[in-house]
Amino acid sequence: MANYLDLIRACKDKPGGLIEAFHAIQENYNYLPKETVSEAARVFGISEAAAYGVATFYSYLSVEPRGKYIIRMCESAPCHIAGADEIIKAFEKELNIKVGETTPDQKFTLELTECVGQCQGTPVITINSVPYVNIQAEQIPAILALCK
Ligand code: FES
Repeated sequence: MANYLDLIRACKDKPGGLIEAFHAIQENYNYLPKETVSEAARVFGISEAAAYGVATFYSYLSVEPRGKYIIRMCESAPCHIAGADEIIKAFEKELNIKVGETTPDQKFTLELTECVGQCQGTPVITINSVPYVNIQAEQIPAILALCK
C-alpha cells in the first residue's frame, strides 16, 4: 500500500491535484481516512474544511470506511425500468445492510451509481468498477459467493 503522503505530494503541483490525490488515496485505502484529508489540506495550503468539502462533494469519494467489494447498482432510467429496485432489495436482504452501508466484516459496501455505459445489458451492477450485465435477483447469492 502506497504511503498517502507520497500520493498527496505527487499531485501537489498538478491542475486538479487535490482531487487526483484523493483518487489515488482512495484507490489504495478504499476510502479517505481522516488523517489523509488533513494532510492534503496542509500540503495544498487550504483549510481542512475546504479539503473535507471536496472529499465529501463527489459521490465517488468516501470519507467512511468501505468494504473490500464495492457493489454499485445503476439507478439511471434504463436500469431502473429493468428492475434495479428489485436487485437492490435482493442485495440488501442478502447482505443485511441498506444502500450506503458496509457490512460489519468490512467485506461489502452497497452503493448506487449513474449509468455506467452498459445500457445494452440492463439491469447493470458494478463490483469494484467491473460491470456485470443482465443481473437477476436470484443470481445474487451466487454473485456474492464469488467475492471471496
Ligand atoms: S442505464 Fe444502467 S448502465 Fe446505462
